[in-house]
Amino acid sequence: MKTSALVAALLSACATVSAAPVPTPPGIPSGSTAKSQLAALTVKTAVDDGTYDRDLFPHWIEQGSGCNTRETVLKRDGTNVVVNSSCAPTSGSWKSPYDGATWTAASDIDIDHMVPLKNAWISGASAWTTAKRQQFANDLTRPQLWAVTDNVNQAKSDKSPDVWKPSLTSFHCTYASSWVAVKSYWALSITSAEKSALTTMLNTC
Ligand SMILES: *[C@@H]1O[C@H](CO)[C@@H](O)[C@H](O)[C@H]1NC(C)=O
Repeated sequence: MKTSALVAALLSACATVSAAPVPTPPGIPSGSTAKSQLAALTVKTAVDDGTYDRDLFPHWIEQGSGCNTRETVLKRDGTNVVVNSSCAPTSGSWKSPYDGATWTAASDIDIDHMVPLKNAWISGASAWTTAKRQQFANDLTRPQLWAVTDNVNQAKSDKSPDVWKPSLTSFHCTYASSWVAVKSYWALSITSAEKSALTTMLNTC
């Protein structure tokens, strides 16, 4: 290969690498936008009266073309994801943004609700219709659904950011911005402890 051809090939390879998008959910606001949204959220005590039930938020619904919400997120946020005719991933890799781990089996990935269903229930969603709760639980437009390490999703469970944060501190800005964007769009309240944790995290942006 001539030097010029080699240089061109190398440049083209570099361009491919740098142009590769980092797959993330849509709708993540900038830190400054998230701070404005946070300031506008209603702060009040969340009361867990024991009425929450996961079935009150139907998921994962079909999204068209034979894929449900979970499969749609796996395709969206993985790399080189191949699915079979039932839209189940048969190969691909997923980098979990909460802890930085990479997995090559979809079974190691959970789709996390950024704002957990139970947290939504105790911060306003108990007054919604089931149809609205279904939209929330399958929201592909806001940064609500994240493909993450299954154990990390289970450790987070229904915890708000004053109680649980992702281990990667470099992700705290994006995490808090996404949490606030979801609560803002869906007009859910926050507690004062939650607001304080989110403020600290947004200060890393
Ligand atoms: C697709 O893969 C899933 C998971 O491995 C499997 O359960 C399902 O039967 C497969 N569907 C088809 C049509 O091959």
